[in-house]
Amino acid sequence: MLDQSYYTKTDEIIEHYGPKAASLIPIMQDIQAEYRYLPGELLTYVASKIGVTEAKAYSVATFYENFSFEPKGKYVIKVCDGTACHVRKSVPVKEALMKELGLNAKKHTTDDMMFTIETVSCLGACGLAPVMTVNDEVHPKMTPDLAIEVIQNLKKGGAE
Ligand code: FES
Repeated sequence: MLDQSYYTKTDEIIEHYGPKAASLIPIMQDIQAEYRYLPGELLTYVASKIGVTEAKAYSVATFYENFSFEPKGKYVIKVCDGTACHVRKSVPVKEALMKELGLNAKKHTTDDMMFTIETVSCLGACGLAPVMTVNDEVHPKMTPDLAIEVIQNLKKGGAE
């Protein structure tokens, strides 16, 4: 259950774009920017407020990969496992990160909501393989040790 503040914020966002069907995507983008994910309850709420069906709102949200229905951590780490990164040993990098953070194939986000780990197929920086990003900041030529160092710096609040 979301508390009332979520609905108050969502009302402000709806007000900003106008309660019309064409506002659906910018409203969803702002909600996700605010909470780092798109809570299902809010999507239902937005749909009713702007006059689109819930089914339509969900189909739009699921069509765009950038929308997430799962809460994500403050730092979203994307480890590339495209071909170039894979051959340069991206898998040990990801395994080291998951071990360091106590994550596994089913659990992608730490309980303290600090870190989420995702795998992506190519970050478009193959010359720097293996690559990972932290909230879109690129970290090139990763090794397991370097990746853990990045995490430790973030835990210390030393870098973002
Ligand atoms: S395969 Fe990793 S950046 Fe392209």
